[in-house]
Amino acid sequence: MQVKASAPGKAILFGEHAVVYGKPAIAMAINKRTCAEVLEANDNKINVNIRDLGIEGCIDFNKGTIVSDSPKKGILKYILASIKKIHDGSGLEINIDVNIPIGGGLGSSAAVTVATIAAVSAYNEIDLSMEEIAKYAHEVELEVQKSASPIDTTVSTYGGLIYLEADAEDIVQLDIDYDIPVVIGCTDTRGNTGKLVEAVRIRREIYPEIIDPVINSIETLTEEAKEAILNNDKKRIGELMNINHGLLDALGVNTKELSSMVYTARSAGACGSKITGAGGGGSIIAYCPDGTNEVISAIERTESALKADISKEGVKITTYRG
Ligand code: PMV
Repeated sequence: MQVKASAPGKAILFGEHAVVYGKPAIAMAINKRTCAEVLEANDNKINVNIRDLGIEGCIDFNKGTIVSDSPKKGILKYILASIKKIHDGSGLEINIDVNIPIGGGLGSSAAVTVATIAAVSAYNEIDLSMEEIAKYAHEVELEVQKSASPIDTTVSTYGGLIYLEADAEDIVQLDIDYDIPVVIGCTDTRGNTGKLVEAVRIRREIYPEIIDPVINSIETLTEEAKEAILNNDKKRIGELMNINHGLLDALGVNTKELSSMVYTARSAGACGSKITGAGGGGSIIAYCPDGTNEVISAIERTESALKADISKEGVKITTYRG
């Protein structure tokens, strides 16, 4: 028996951090996909091999523990928590290719979780709906990270360009027939999403009368950005991105490197640019309707950059051999 599934990473266009407080967010699935392969094991062990990161581990299903010598074994926690949702503990060989920078604000943990849930459930002949995959994947992120909005797991499951309504009440696919050309600029430093979410929570607790209006402004601009995107109003999309960046700075998640990339992108012709994801390291997103090449070259003088396209496809089973 062999099953392969894949799921995309994501980039948040508007609304990160505010989404943790039940505000809306807009994110796109990107054309970088995590692949999970599940095979029968020769013994009763659950072995996990994250091939592109060189991480190997053995899961003790009953004890809920992972044995691994790798210093970067944190990602295995997502796999253990995912398997627990849809497996009985018998032996498995699980091979993962993450294909998305870890901790880079591009939803690698969600993509690993969604792809693993899809592959293992198909292996076990459990027919999960998209809704169930997204729900289980969000529960896994909550269990591992303690706090997480459903944005990453929703986008990784459904794909496309998604407007997540306030309090995650509904998921609206923004069906557009034009491109949203974006460049992602990545720093070497990795942001710790859990710690950054906690830092914003503390800042809000200390300065509620200052931080609550900032979060409310992010809500308003995200709602406006939805209209701007639907109208392909490039100028407004760019301006709202720039405002969103300033508000994320006010929340305390900016860094010198991110800031520098944001301004480099704007000087090179981006219509707007901002942190994407949790910040504190990780990535920026630049909206480049007038062309991406110059922005990529400018960022690449100091950091790395990639052009990201919207991936219409969410999670999918790519191979099923019974
Ligand atoms: O950096 P990422 O991909 O983990 O994105 C985090 C987005 C936050 O809004 C900061 C947290 C969340 O759970 O939504």
